[in-house]
Amino acid sequence: MWAHGDLPGSAELAARHGYTRARVLLQMRRDLGEAAPDRPGPGAAGVDPVPRPVLPEGVTVRPFRPGRDEQTWLRVNARAFATHPEQGSWTTTDLELREAEPWFDPAGFFLAWRGDPDHGGALLGFHWTKVHPPGDAGPEAVGEVYVLGIDPDAQGMGLGRALTDTGLAHLRSRGLAQVLLYVEEDNTVAVSLYERSGFTRSAVDVSWRRPRPDRDPA
Ligand SMILES: CC(C)(COP(=O)(O)OP(=O)(O)OC[C@H]1O[C@@H](n2cnc3c(N)ncnc32)[C@H](O)[C@@H]1OP(=O)(O)O)[C@@H](O)C(=O)NCCC(=O)NCCS
Repeated sequence: MWAHGDLPGSAELAARHGYTRARVLLQMRRDLGEAAPDRPGPGAAGVDPVPRPVLPEGVTVRPFRPGRDEQTWLRVNARAFATHPEQGSWTTTDLELREAEPWFDPAGFFLAWRGDPDHGGALLGFHWTKVHPPGDAGPEAVGEVYVLGIDPDAQGMGLGRALTDTGLAHLRSRGLAQVLLYVEEDNTVAVSLYERSGFTRSAVDVSWRRPRPDRDPA
């Protein structure tokens, strides 16, 4: 059972009926025109629309190539989100359905490779951005950090930070004023990465669960 908002009244009601918190999903937002608190950009004017990510040596960032990168992306997505309730189990069909959406834009879907993708290179991580049209997530068009994932073997090298910066710069270059994302509250590495990138919590949804009496008499 999902509760939109984490109000004391809904927590009390849920607890009274034997529900416990199963998942807490944060929505975070930031303005693209204002600098992240600890990372004032040139002139402290906000996200620079020209991406200058600090990438590990030998790593390049390229856009996703429809028809070529699907299987490699699915493998890294599954590895990065192995413990995630939905994202880690995406299939070819799930990906192709998104590629067929009107909002899909490979120019905003960034892949970080070590080496040449067509000659034995390895996909290390990705940042897939999305643009919501006016009226979808607010009166104006709003960008989204749709999926950010780094292969477990490449985590902690600065790629998450570099790909976040690349995606935010892309969204700013599209003229967007704001960006949002969804993240599990207990994903502390991602939440702190986003907080240091200037995001703040704007909404929270809580999934409440209780055992079915017929399945778990205890
Ligand atoms: C969250 C994730 C994208 C971060 O990417 P990453 O490349 O491992 O992170 P980076 O090396 O760029 O580090 C980013 C920051 O997190 C910190 N960090 C990285 N790994 C950490 C860890 N295990 N524990 C604590 N802090 C950590 C770094 O110190 C860095 O801080 P800084 O920017 O202040 O220097 C990556 O761990 C991942 O793909 N996780 C699984 C999928 C996921 O949760 N995606 C986000 C869901 S919305």
